[in-house]
Amino acid sequence: MPTPAPARQPDPALRFPPSFVWGVATSSYQIEGAVDEDGRGDSIWDVFSRRPGAVTRGESGDPACDHYHRWPQDVALLDDLGVDAYRLSIAWPRIQPTGRGPANRAGIEFYRRLLGGVRERGISPFVTMYHWDLPQALEETGGWRTRETALRFADYAALLHDELGDLVENWITLNEPYPSSMAGYAQGRHAPGASEGDGALAAAYHLLLGHGLTVAALRAQARPGDRLGITLNRSPVVPVSDSPADAAAAARLDCVLNHQFSDPVLGAGHPPELTEIFAGVSDFSFRRAEDLALIGAPLDFLGLNYYYRIHVSDAPHDEPEPAARTADDLGSDRTHRPAGVRRTGLGWPVEPAGLREVLTGLRARHGTLPPIYLTENGCAYPDPEESAAASTAGAGDAESARTAAPQDVERIDFLAEHLAVLRDVMAEGIDVRGYFLWSLLDNFEWAHGYGPRFGIVRVDYETQERTPRASFHWYKALLAAQQDSA
Ligand code: NOJ
Repeated sequence: MPTPAPARQPDPALRFPPSFVWGVATSSYQIEGAVDEDGRGDSIWDVFSRRPGAVTRGESGDPACDHYHRWPQDVALLDDLGVDAYRLSIAWPRIQPTGRGPANRAGIEFYRRLLGGVRERGISPFVTMYHWDLPQALEETGGWRTRETALRFADYAALLHDELGDLVENWITLNEPYPSSMAGYAQGRHAPGASEGDGALAAAYHLLLGHGLTVAALRAQARPGDRLGITLNRSPVVPVSDSPADAAAAARLDCVLNHQFSDPVLGAGHPPELTEIFAGVSDFSFRRAEDLALIGAPLDFLGLNYYYRIHVSDAPHDEPEPAARTADDLGSDRTHRPAGVRRTGLGWPVEPAGLREVLTGLRARHGTLPPIYLTENGCAYPDPEESAAASTAGAGDAESARTAAPQDVERIDFLAEHLAVLRDVMAEGIDVRGYFLWSLLDNFEWAHGYGPRFGIVRVDYETQERTPRASFHWYKALLAAQQDSA
C-alpha cells in the first residue's frame, strides 16, 4: 500500500519504554457485518437496532465494515501500521447462537482464521470476550438482570479459552460494563433498550459476576502465558460549581459510573454509597456475599478506556445546546459541556488532563494497581470532504472535495496530547504497559449509527473501500520512531 509522507510528524519527545505495547482496537458488532451468516444468532443489538428510533437513520450493524469477509485486508492494514497488538472482540452469538450449548464450528473457525492471520503478522491479539453483543435468546430469559446470564457467560468464556487459547494469551472478560448495564437497562439508549432501576443495577452486578466467574473458570483451566483482565471505562466527574449540591451530584455519578465497577473488581467491595444512592430503587437482594471474592480476584492487568471528563450539576441546566449524548455518560440534562474547551465531532470535550486524573485517582483510591493498558482512546471527527459535500449542492464540488487529501489535524492533535499526558504519568511511576487507539476503522457507533468516524482508516460504506487517514500515517511514524530509539 502506498504510504505518503505523513502530513504531520510525531514529536520526537513522544518516547515510551521499548516494551510498551502499541495497538488499535475494534469490536465485533461494530465492524463485522454478516449478521445472518454461518449460523450466527441474533444479538440484542440486532433486535434493538430494528426498533424505530433506536439508532440514528435506522442504521444497524449490518453490513458495518463487512470485516467478516474483508478481514485479510484489515489485517494487512494492521501490519502496514506496525502495531504490536490488536484488540478485537468475539461475537458471542457466532459461537453460541442462543447463548448456551456447544460451539458453532463455523463461528470458531472464523475466529481461528482471523486470529491466525493476526498472529502470522507478528501481532499479538488482545481478545475481548464480551463487547455488548449478548445473544438475544438470553435477553429473552432476563438478560443481564439474571444470575443465569452470568453463569452462561462464564461457560461461553471457558469455551473460547478451550477453542482459541492456543492463539490468544491476553483475554479481556468484559468491555465497559457501565454502558452495558446503565445505558442498556436504565437509560434505554443502548440494547436492550430497557428503562429500569433495579433491573439495571442487577445487570451491572451480574456483569461483574460474569467477569468473576470467568476469571475463576479460566484460572482453573489455565494455559501457560494466560493473562486475564477487564476493560472499564472511566471519566473524572467534575462538579460545575463549588456548591455542596453540585459536589454531591458529582460524587454520586462518580460512584455509579466509576466506583460501582472498579471497587469490587479491585478487591475493595461494593462502594457503600451505591446502596444509599439507590435506596428505594433496589434492595440489592441479587447480591451474594460469596460473589465478592470471585469478582475481586487478582487480575493480570486492568484495561481502561478514556475519552472525556464529565461535568455535572445537581439540577437540570439551561444551556442553549443539549448536553452531549454519549455511549458513556448519563446522557442527562445535568451533564454540561464546559465553556472554552474544544470538542470532538460528537461534542465530547477534549480534555487530555482527565487521563492523568483517571490514573492518579485510581492509584490514590486503591494503592497498588494491576499493570494498566489503555484499551481505548480516540475521537470522531468528520472528514473535511464530508463537511464540504454537505455544504455544496453541486456533485462536481463534492467530488473534488472527496479526492482532496484530508489532513485529519484534530484527530492527530487529540492523540498526541493524550499520549503526552500518558508518557508524563508513566514517568511518575504509574505502570501503564500499552495503548490501543480507538479505532482502526470507521465503524458502527452504536445508537449514533455510522455518522461518527472514529477510524484512522476511512471506510466508504457504499464501496467498502478503506483509505488510511493522515492520522494512520502519523501513528505509523510514531510507532516506527519508537522502534528506532529502542
Ligand atoms: C467505548 C466503546 O467500547 C466502543 O464500542 C465505542 O465505539 C467507543 N467507546 C466510542 O464511543
